[in-house]
Amino acid sequence: MTIQELKQEFVSCYGEGGEIRIFWSPGRVNLIGEHTDYNGGYVFPAALSMGSMIALRPRTDHIVRMKATDLPDLVEVDTHRLEDYRDLSWGNYQAGVMNELQKAGYEICACDMLFDDTLPHGGGLSSSAAIEVVTALAFATLSNEKKGIKEPVDMIEMALIGQKTEHNYIGVNCGIMDQFASAMGKKDSAIFLKCDTMEYRHVGLDMEGYTLIISNTNKKRSLASSKYNERRAECEAGLATLKTFFPEASSLSDISYKEFLLHADSIQDETVRKRVKHVISENERVLNSVKALSSGDMISFGQLMNASGDSLRYDYEVTGDELDALVEEARKVDGVIGSRMTGAGFGGCTVSLVKAEAVEAFIAKVGEAYEKKIGYPASFYVSQIGDGGHEMV
Ligand code: GLA
Repeated sequence: MTIQELKQEFVSCYGEGGEIRIFWSPGRVNLIGEHTDYNGGYVFPAALSMGSMIALRPRTDHIVRMKATDLPDLVEVDTHRLEDYRDLSWGNYQAGVMNELQKAGYEICACDMLFDDTLPHGGGLSSSAAIEVVTALAFATLSNEKKGIKEPVDMIEMALIGQKTEHNYIGVNCGIMDQFASAMGKKDSAIFLKCDTMEYRHVGLDMEGYTLIISNTNKKRSLASSKYNERRAECEAGLATLKTFFPEASSLSDISYKEFLLHADSIQDETVRKRVKHVISENERVLNSVKALSSGDMISFGQLMNASGDSLRYDYEVTGDELDALVEEARKVDGVIGSRMTGAGFGGCTVSLVKAEAVEAFIAKVGEAYEKKIGYPASFYVSQIGDGGHEMV
């Protein structure tokens, strides 16, 4: 929807009068660096041009009314009782963000809101982070204005508010990558981020004639959050063992791959050993990818994407038939130099690096083979890399 269309729809939901403001935050695609963020490691995501847009107008009471352009319900939230909305089937992320902001000292302004989301829900492109960051940005902006604070909203703080919402309100023990990418993205750049220190820099994505294609398995994810939390626990168990040799290590990312190999056998549980191997080797792949991309070496970058994908499939074991089918079929297409799952896994999306002239053939061939193997169609997006969260005028 365009800004004008969203404003018109807002008026038909809530009526005329007063200024309507528009806020935006994107989803993300992670190029490489998967399941490293909650292990203090490196990630390399980019913000998409798909995301979450809000039209908003303040009210004078203490009620926030929320609606989405693709859902029939109107949800009401009382800003005096923000702890009470965990069970909402839609609106819980927004209520959780308001709750975290309030705890952090922000005033939650009553308002009417209309959300327009262009990301597939639960598709692994961080539709939740986009909603969290755009909600945080909108309420923090209004709160700062009310208090006469002139500085722009601190977007890294908004990312952290989104992450706390996941931990404290939703019950997913996620890392910071998704919210950071949504808050701090930059057009045509990826973000090279070290997740323990939050040091980051943007790396220009000059794709040298290649395109990133996102392929969605369209698999209904189930139990993804419990499997996600299980992986975290396995990494913690691995770290506990390796700490015998590296007492200073505060996360797996403080241990190099060489060091891990020297002591890998000390981890008795084979599953835990494989999880640790993935995390530590993935950190090295991110560093090498940033180098490769910075020098325009797309072939090496593609190979690193493939190695990451294989590690996620065989060592971290977060893929499944649908993601495996998409990656296998993608790698068969001429002009594809890298393909891997992106995000948490267990369904969701893949990202493939494809020669610009091979895009049509890719979509046709992978689409047909996937449907034949899996029984229902995949979706494909050639999304642009866009800016992070901001108010739109
Ligand atoms: C999800 C989480 C992120 C990150 C990825 C895996 O998207 O929200 O924090 O852990 O999975 O890399």
